[in-house]
Amino acid sequence: MMWIFLGAPGAGKGTQAERLQQDFGFVQISTGELLREAMRAGTELGKTVQGYVTRGDLVPDEVVASVLQERLVRGDTGTGVILDGFPRTVRQAEILEEMLAEHCWQLCGVLYLEASEEVVQQRLGGRRNCPQCGANYHVVTMPPKVEGRCDRCGAQLVVRPDDTPEAIRKRLEVYREQTEPLVAFYDQRGMLERIDASGEVDEVYRAVKEAVSRRWQRCLEKG
Ligand code: AP5
Repeated sequence: MMWIFLGAPGAGKGTQAERLQQDFGFVQISTGELLREAMRAGTELGKTVQGYVTRGDLVPDEVVASVLQERLVRGDTGTGVILDGFPRTVRQAEILEEMLAEHCWQLCGVLYLEASEEVVQQRLGGRRNCPQCGANYHVVTMPPKVEGRCDRCGAQLVVRPDDTPEAIRKRLEVYREQTEPLVAFYDQRGMLERIDASGEVDEVYRAVKEAVSRRWQRCLEKG
């Protein structure tokens, strides 16, 4: 079973996906995190994608699709997979449909987190990230217990390289042009669940959980 989180940069996809993973036993797959891991490790892939990610551009469809495919076939998919950050273009959505058909995977729902640009800019501007375990914080809304240190592993928190004002502007522009068309794409297929993501984390999570429970039931009935 597969779930997709769709939404602007900073809408809260990663935050909500992490909670779902804990509560439902799903496995969260963030293409952004897979790419950042490759960048940190200095692999060939990391070198190829570094420029795109740092500028706030999308990595070419075929590159990111093959990264996802490699991750999916590893097999540790728990009770389901949450795709956090894929697809991001109509072409990627088409590639995903091919993958689903090939492996007999079922898409249960697309959770579309809606938040205004003002809200997402505030969230991205205060985000801090753990370079070691990937945990996410916000200096105001989700601060770590000890300032600047990860609660989970104690590493020094950092600002993501694409959370600069210029890269944030670029990411939002790219989102509007290339990713937003997926709202209509999945709406036409009856897969879209609109979730108001402007509230507090717990409030948004309640709406996410309700949508997942509803869709899960339907997915099980379809088999
Ligand atoms: P990716 O890592 O996917 O970044 P993104 O989509 O820009 O999303 P973010 O991680 O910035 O935001 P989010 O929605 O997960 O919000 P979060 O939960 O962190 O991709 C990065 C780059 O990789 C792309 O730009 C591209 O270059 C490349 N890439 C990745 N996938 C690709 C693909 N498929 N194709 C091509 N290229 C690809 O929350 C943000 C902050 O707000 C946090 O600080 C959090 O603590 C806080 N927060 C969250 N929810 C709330 C709330 N409800 N109230 C208050 N604060 C909140």
